[in-house]
Amino acid sequence: MKEEIINLLNKNKNEFISGEDISSILGISRAAVWKYMKVIKEDGYNIESVSRKGYKLISAPDLLTFQEISPYLNTHYIGKQINYFNSIDSTNDEGKRLANSGCSEGTVIISEEQTMGRGRLGRTWVSPKFKGIWMSIVLRPDIEPMNVAKITQVGAAAVLKAIKEQGINAHIKWPNDIVLNNKKVCGILTEMSGEINKINYVVMGIGINVNINREDFSKEIEEVATSLKVEEGRSIERKPLVASVLNNLEELYDEFIRNQDIKTSIDICRENSILIGKTIRIINRSNVIMAEAMDLSDDGKLIVKYEDGSIHEVISGEVSVRGLYGYV
Ligand code: BTN
Repeated sequence: MKEEIINLLNKNKNEFISGEDISSILGISRAAVWKYMKVIKEDGYNIESVSRKGYKLISAPDLLTFQEISPYLNTHYIGKQINYFNSIDSTNDEGKRLANSGCSEGTVIISEEQTMGRGRLGRTWVSPKFKGIWMSIVLRPDIEPMNVAKITQVGAAAVLKAIKEQGINAHIKWPNDIVLNNKKVCGILTEMSGEINKINYVVMGIGINVNINREDFSKEIEEVATSLKVEEGRSIERKPLVASVLNNLEELYDEFIRNQDIKTSIDICRENSILIGKTIRIINRSNVIMAEAMDLSDDGKLIVKYEDGSIHEVISGEVSVRGLYGYV
């Protein structure tokens, strides 16, 4: 019911809606409207109440609930169901729990903080409260399991487009990091459950450091990571950014499933690549190989030239790619 009242207030933004109208539209008593309004105000909504006029929404809190994100969404199925948490272990873990119990494709899990956020290669992902976008999307692609890594690049292209739409000039560090001024602002962790020739589901986890302050990063992480706020010198609105990631993701993902190729996503990754043309280190466990990043193949592999002049295609999987002296 709280959600329905917030929707009504949102629809009538900058106008009063009477308690009587709310009670008759939603079929609840005036006393119930009054009680819900109290809770909604406690959630951080700034609502003006004037006797005989009713209620007017002045401003909404910076929360990533369905009510707050949906006005910006233009998707058909991604984000039509958003499971919102104030705190959770990991949105990817919740995504897997939901996927195992049969949730529909496009279900999104968002949490204001993660207590056990996970990154690639077993790393932890710091996810402080209200300062980032920590979300996972459940997908059920009808593709061969060996093609699942391509979905990460679809995700990277979607996030890059969304960040650029906010006027921020970020780049993609193959395969799945978004970088700003040579430091990481976003990572993607794609996990799958499947059999040899069938995918049950894919959970794509996206972590974007939005309004994290410089001092919130540990000394160690600060060397390689940053946030949109630190680099831009201003707070960034999270709601339109989340919606834009989901809008772009649905468009690019649909194209992938329809055509069984990721051409548009690869074009975006290529045009905005921070690695192409640079000398890089390819790290596979303790083994480090120097190479020049030449291009991306149409199916998302990194084409590199080793020091002996031979050309190779690197598959994302277990490798880590670094610049010659640091992160890029
Ligand atoms: C990486 O670059 O190592 C991937 C980081 C992925 C972080 C996101 S935050 C939302 C989702 N839940 C997690 O536990 N991890 C991903």
